[in-house]
Amino acid sequence: MKPFTSLSVNTTFNMISTLLLVMLFLALAYNNYRREQALILNGAVDNARTISRQIIVTRDYLSNHVTTEPESNYNLVPQVASTQIARQLTSGSNFSVRQVSLRYRNPGNRPDPFETEQLKLFMQKRNHESWQVTTEQGKKSLRYLLAMVADSSCLACHGSYDAAPAFVQARFARGHFSYGYQVGEVIGAISVSVPMEGLYRQIGTNLKHDIIYDACVLIAFLAITGAIMRKAILTPVKDVAVHISDVAKTGNFSQRLERTSTNEIGQLVGSFNELMEELDRKTRQRVESEERYRNFIEIAQSPIISFMADGKIVISNQKAEKLFGLSKEELLGLSIFDFMEDGENLRRAIEAYFSAGSSDLIGTTTLQKVRDVCGRLFDAEMVISVSQSDQTQIFSAILRTIKNGSAAR
Ligand code: HEC
Repeated sequence: MKPFTSLSVNTTFNMISTLLLVMLFLALAYNNYRREQALILNGAVDNARTISRQIIVTRDYLSNHVTTEPESNYNLVPQVASTQIARQLTSGSNFSVRQVSLRYRNPGNRPDPFETEQLKLFMQKRNHESWQVTTEQGKKSLRYLLAMVADSSCLACHGSYDAAPAFVQARFARGHFSYGYQVGEVIGAISVSVPMEGLYRQIGTNLKHDIIYDACVLIAFLAITGAIMRKAILTPVKDVAVHISDVAKTGNFSQRLERTSTNEIGQLVGSFNELMEELDRKTRQRVESEERYRNFIEIAQSPIISFMADGKIVISNQKAEKLFGLSKEELLGLSIFDFMEDGENLRRAIEAYFSAGSSDLIGTTTLQKVRDVCGRLFDAEMVISVSQSDQTQIFSAILRTIKNGSAAR
């Protein structure tokens, strides 16, 4: 993951887990919201159905049992009475109820386009109940319709003109379209509508609570996992990193870390300690063997010089220092090639040794002219041996000056 490589592990982890959790919470909240919406819609449909059934039952009861009274009291006409009852039933709620018919008597009962459409479907006997969430002028509302079917009692006033009571005849002339119904025919419908806004207000509040709750869970999660990560992983790993860079700076391999767990971090600490142990041992060994080598060449009777492939002198003995006329401090770091009359030849021999694996100057005794600090030349027999140290080759030259030379010592 390239974009995260420059961020700390903790930040990366926090970012990724926040992203995942936010996505999870959003998905859950959305799912919840949809479920609550469906529940609320079902509840509203149930309510509308109950109200409608009550009205139809009331109307049927009146139509069957209050037959002569409407003549003298118009308020007892089933439609008029049930309208009043419905009004009282739904007062104080969001529900509004109408009783509509395509062939209305009261213009106030004329169906709107939606109701007309549903009534037509009812008349085709498709179904006797329908509901839908509609949007009018940007406002959503639930529209519910339940068909009213004419029974024989209804026909007393909605059958033929001649059979109708005088007060009905007086109001609605012969040929008015509100006459002429048959038993079983859809005569109208109870129409209930309720704005969704009011219903959904509660879920809006629930959603707000959900989000606050989720945010708290998220913060707690990040705080806890952050603390655990820091304690269990980041701090120990950082400790190891700091110690490694310390070792790189100081070269001191004596440091050990306390191993507090047996998990992967514990293993890392264990490996670090083992590595330090091994390096410590190797260094001690090397120091000891170098020490032994130094002591050994100091007691040798011949000048001995050790140098790297580039000619840089790294070890010398007293005899060599005396030969070249320099102290150990002065000699170390200088190039062996400068002390040879034909330094180039030796340089080429070393190159040949690296490229071809052998060279005529190495491993055999050759006669050379060496030069001291003052430029005096000596004849000397020289033999060069090669040894490996820390992945690099070290060349050691043993010299033996020949006394009968031009300026021998
Ligand atoms: C006693 C006479 C009478 C009876 C019985 C009667 N109705 Fe009516 N109905 C009326 C009158 C009058 C109106 C007009 C009311 C108004 O002015 O609001 C009406 C209106 C209606 C309406 C409203 C549409 C419109 O025409 O304005 C419907 C629907 C309806 N009746 C259905 C029925 C059904 C169903 C029955 C049987 C269960 C029934 N009525 C029985 C007299 C009657």
